[in-house]
Amino acid sequence: MSSTKIWTHKGTFLLAAVGSAVGLGNLWRFPYLTGENGGGAFILVYALTIAVVGIPILIAETLLGRASRKSPIMGMKYLTESHGTSRHWQVIGWMGASAAFIILSFYSVIAGWAIHYTWLMFSGQLSGASADVISASFGELLASPNQLLLYHTLFMLASALIVGMGIHKGIENGLRFMMPALFIILMIVLAYGVMTGDAVAAIKFLFTFNLNDLSLEGWLQAMGQSFFTLSLGMGAIMAYGAYMSKEASLTRTAISIALVDTAIALIAGIAIFSLVFGAGMDAGQGPGLMFVTLPIAFADLPGGALLGGVFFILVIGAALTSAISLVEPVAAFLVERFGFSRPLATSIMAGLCWLLGLLTVFSFNLWSEGTWTHQLFGRSPFEILEFLTNIMMPLGGLLIALFAGWALSREEVLNEMDTNDRWFHTWQFLVRFIAPTAVAFVFLRTLPQVEG
Ligand code: PHE
Ligand code: NA
Repeated sequence: MSSTKIWTHKGTFLLAAVGSAVGLGNLWRFPYLTGENGGGAFILVYALTIAVVGIPILIAETLLGRASRKSPIMGMKYLTESHGTSRHWQVIGWMGASAAFIILSFYSVIAGWAIHYTWLMFSGQLSGASADVISASFGELLASPNQLLLYHTLFMLASALIVGMGIHKGIENGLRFMMPALFIILMIVLAYGVMTGDAVAAIKFLFTFNLNDLSLEGWLQAMGQSFFTLSLGMGAIMAYGAYMSKEASLTRTAISIALVDTAIALIAGIAIFSLVFGAGMDAGQGPGLMFVTLPIAFADLPGGALLGGVFFILVIGAALTSAISLVEPVAAFLVERFGFSRPLATSIMAGLCWLLGLLTVFSFNLWSEGTWTHQLFGRSPFEILEFLTNIMMPLGGLLIALFAGWALSREEVLNEMDTNDRWFHTWQFLVRFIAPTAVAFVFLRTLPQVEG
């Protein structure tokens, strides 16, 4: 089988993993969670979790991919069978693939909102519009299943097209073009935000720490966000790790991914809060921060329609480079397991995800209340899916840490990370003790919410 397939360059894994990591999590979720949780203290906990839990698990997940050189499901099967460890660990692969499947189904719908806003911005429809009109336009979008469906379909098609062309022609080439472009756009947006907005207020908000401001819920959200933002526990990193060059260092690569991802979240935060505070608005708007508050800020600024459109292109592009990393684990599995062609495997994955995405599409309109999920759990179907992934991500991460820390043979681990690596012992300690403890804590705190 074609299990020896690897990336073209030693550094491609880093590029691909950064593409996966940087997405809606940085541009949309991080700013609104920070805004809701009062700023700096949230960021402090978030950064700490990334360092102590996120990076060690990122190393472990990459290690499992590179050691097996297979998609997550087949890779875990191979690792357990070749080492005579319990077959139960194979749940890591299955759960990762299922979580990827669920996340992509709603990630695509939300990325679709950005397509709509790109259009609204460039066509000048929001220029000079009042706050009420802009708020109402978001409500109208959510109320329209047809529009949501159209954008969801477009986004899913684009993701499938890239992955369907293969890891070299599709994913690598796509990333090599998109990543620098996205970086340039981010810098333009940052410069614009700082020049036209209130950067001092933004920086104060982001970097003033007062731990007393942070609720227990905020601590948990910060930890959850650190998993989401690094693409952990979903097989995405494992799938990309399968193609990673043997020459690249796991620790150095993982630390770079985490640093870049955090830097981009902070830059996005500075740009967005400069604009929001400059317009005299409130940071705590929740998920509507990017789709209501920010467009209101753009509406009154010189060149706001143009820059707003450019900003939403950035959101679409960043979401796309993450989405392809969610298609890859399942598509690669279908190729390995059933011998399907890549285009067929990708179409199956994207098609089924598209179908599951309908649950999210209708959650904002036809099924926004009164479904059986509301009766049983007090949540819409979308909220149930999101909740499920909030369990699956930490659980997957926990199992990955335990498997790499305790179950994998010493030879296999040393084959990937030699003891000369000065981070080796630190990594082993974190992955064996600290990461599992921290994750178990989040996990146990999240479970009681099942009752709603
Ligand atoms: N890390 C991505 C983001 O921040 C989301 C993602 C999660 C992508 C899991 C792939 C896998 O938007
Ligand atoms: Na991210």
